[in-house]
Amino acid sequence: MIDSHAHLDDEKFEYDRETLIENLKENGIDFVYNIGANLQSSINSVELARKYENIHAVIGVHPHDADTYNDEVEEKLIELSKDKNVRAIGEIGLDFYYDNSPRDIQREVFKRQIELAHKLQLPIVVHSRDAAGETFEIIKEAKEKYNELVFLIHCYSQSVELMHEYMKLGCYIALGGVVTFKNSKVIKEVAKEVSIDRLLLETDAPYLAPVPMRGKRNEPMFIKHSAQEIANLRGISVEELIKITDENTKRFYND
Ligand code: NI
Repeated sequence: MIDSHAHLDDEKFEYDRETLIENLKENGIDFVYNIGANLQSSINSVELARKYENIHAVIGVHPHDADTYNDEVEEKLIELSKDKNVRAIGEIGLDFYYDNSPRDIQREVFKRQIELAHKLQLPIVVHSRDAAGETFEIIKEAKEKYNELVFLIHCYSQSVELMHEYMKLGCYIALGGVVTFKNSKVIKEVAKEVSIDRLLLETDAPYLAPVPMRGKRNEPMFIKHSAQEIANLRGISVEELIKITDENTKRFYND
């Protein structure tokens, strides 16, 4: 099983990071994509990927930290991207729920990093919260400009209709712990209707642990709970689902 999105560099793994990573295999996790959120965590992400064979890195600046982005940060991301373990730019996007960075800066930095991904020929991992329409418009414009760009909407939390629009643009979506929550009716519907060849599994560890671990620190091995829920919703075996989502993950990250 592959976890397409985790933050193992997070301080919540400070005390047991090594043991956790060394035990991934025996807990059923073959591979983890570790996602950066600012320059420092992108550096940490690449360091983890250099150290462990079963981790690859994604680098970029999250909308929360958009106001830290400048030419110097961009130069450093370009340097980092030369490492053979880097697979994508992310997570980048818009977050109008927390508004940790001013919205005009979030928009500008999202667009700049899309240009960066185009220049580096890397796929893009997108974070979007309370900004569904604007995120979609920016991605649609980018696809009109650069048709070969590939986007993954991480922790997809929008409508079924918008999911279909993303499918038309050739995008992927990733679902995690939220799909197991009892009140996540729309996301369960998305899990049923999404094209099976565009669906990825993720944890977003240490955040958003699935039921029955909800509220605890999330870990890559908890991905099995989301996998089981989605398999049940689609009426297929969990083995079949994982085989397909793992293939999708490798295709998205060019692995
Ligand atoms: Ni994340």
